[in-house]
Amino acid sequence: MEKLPLVALISGRGSNLKAIIDAADPLVEIRAVISNRPQAKGLLYAQQAGIANEVLDHTLFKSRIDFDTALQTRINYYQPKLLILAGFMRILSPKFVAHYQSRFINIHPSLLPAFRGLHTHKRVLESGMKEHGASVHFVTEDLDAGPVIIQARIPVLPNDNEESLAARVLQEEHRIYPQAIHWFAQGRLQLQGQRALLDGKPIILDKGNLQ
Ligand code: GRF
Repeated sequence: MEKLPLVALISGRGSNLKAIIDAADPLVEIRAVISNRPQAKGLLYAQQAGIANEVLDHTLFKSRIDFDTALQTRINYYQPKLLILAGFMRILSPKFVAHYQSRFINIHPSLLPAFRGLHTHKRVLESGMKEHGASVHFVTEDLDAGPVIIQARIPVLPNDNEESLAARVLQEEHRIYPQAIHWFAQGRLQLQGQRALLDGKPIILDKGNLQ
């Protein structure tokens, strides 16, 4: 089977990127890692693995559109068939998102559609939810609202704080992101309208039983 060429966008720590590198999926070729922040630690993981890596510093661009256009040019240079966000902390314009439609995925630290946006662990604790988790989803125009591909659920424990919860969610992220990418590389995943399909069938998410 032909390897899936992938480009990853990061902004920081890069632990999900590392998990994907470490998974060493024989069906996946990480062609490049691009960071919008020069100091992103994730760049080191790319360097250590001999993966092309670049910085495109958003602060040097006049507008969001200018940055997105330049980013698109750099991504397309590598001709990816899958674009992934791995802790990329910038909102991308609708035009950019449309360009990668159906081959663009993200990981988010919550059980979407619950807790879109930032500070999910804190908000989960404040809300008293008994369950939390992570979701890999197709990227669409609406932030953190694209169809979910896979989720991992974990219980919120009585003495959890933001750090302990974040750490357990992150462990699950590192498991489900490589899994979703593997399905995509196998040609089993599709975006159809507002639905994610696996093997041609809509993905039904486990509803959990702790709420
Ligand atoms: C993860 O929690 C991910 O779900 C979110 O940003 C964080 C990135 O962490 N989108 P890392 O850079 O992969 O370590």
